Amino acid sequence: MLVTTEEMFKKSMQGKYAIGAFNINNMEIIQGIMDAANKAKSPVILEVSSSAIKYARIGYIMKMIEAAVEEYPDVPVALHLDHGPDFETCKMCVDAGFTSVMFDGSKYDFEENVQKTKEVVEYAHSKGVVVEAELGKLAGIEDDVNVASNEAMYTDPEQAKEFVERTGCDSLAIAIGTSHGAYKFKGEAKLRFDILKQVKELIPNTPIVLHGASTVVPELLETCNKFGADIPGAKGVPDEILHEASVSGISKINVDTDLRLAMTAGIRKVFVEQPNAFDPRKYLGAARDLIEETVYHKMTNVFGSSNKI
Ligand code: 13P
Ligand code: G3H
Ligand code: ZN
Repeated sequence: MLVTTEEMFKKSMQGKYAIGAFNINNMEIIQGIMDAANKAKSPVILEVSSSAIKYARIGYIMKMIEAAVEEYPDVPVALHLDHGPDFETCKMCVDAGFTSVMFDGSKYDFEENVQKTKEVVEYAHSKGVVVEAELGKLAGIEDDVNVASNEAMYTDPEQAKEFVERTGCDSLAIAIGTSHGAYKFKGEAKLRFDILKQVKELIPNTPIVLHGASTVVPELLETCNKFGADIPGAKGVPDEILHEASVSGISKINVDTDLRLAMTAGIRKVFVEQPNAFDPRKYLGAARDLIEETVYHKMTNVFGSSNKI
């Protein structure tokens, strides 16, 4: 059933586990995620970026979600706008039937972020839709920041409290050392759990969101590279660290890169091993299976959200 994240997060905060939020771009990705959620008996968040909306088109997205929810009526599904860039995009998704939207004002200064987030919260709440906001910046290793400015990227816990109080947002994405994409760490993967702890102490009832949380699953990366990809030295957040985050107050974990790798690995393997195969169902089917496997592993072995429906 299609739900907001409110009830999901209430339960996950009580039970100390996290809900996976997976980016969707096409039918096979939706099916792979939903098959995994159904098998794991896990609630799930399907999230759509504005570029995914441009790619797949809003009408197709809504109909595919309708079909997914109908196929698995017992699985709680939230449909969420990922990194909404402005009020208009958030409004469009609220009006289309999304149950949750993110307004990402992290590129603005604090005051502007507060004002713009408030505007989205007012509209979304008037339609029964919840809002995720973001405070802090997710800098990747390719962003070339020095140590001093890197420190300033992390979310300030006191500011987080003020931000949530002033905006009325329902959940908050914080920056504690992750970044988007396949290149998150040069050396050892490390998250600032001390910041998370302070945030949770100050705003214990606000669900906290971790973006940029793909593992860059080594086996998937290896398969991609073995079958012709050139993605050297990619590194993400290991399972153990994500598990620690899940039991330490992170309520939502965002994953896109791992799905991209799963899709690519599945397709590349078929292309190389079966050069005579040209039926799209062969390679897209293999990709869908790998997405299911990847998501199922995260739900059951890492986030702790399985058997929670
Ligand atoms: P990854 O690039 O680590 O998968 O992060 C995805 C994300 O944060 C989507 O909002
Ligand atoms: O955080 C960003 C997500 O990975 C979505 O990426 O905007 O390329 O769809 P995208
Ligand atoms: Zn993100």
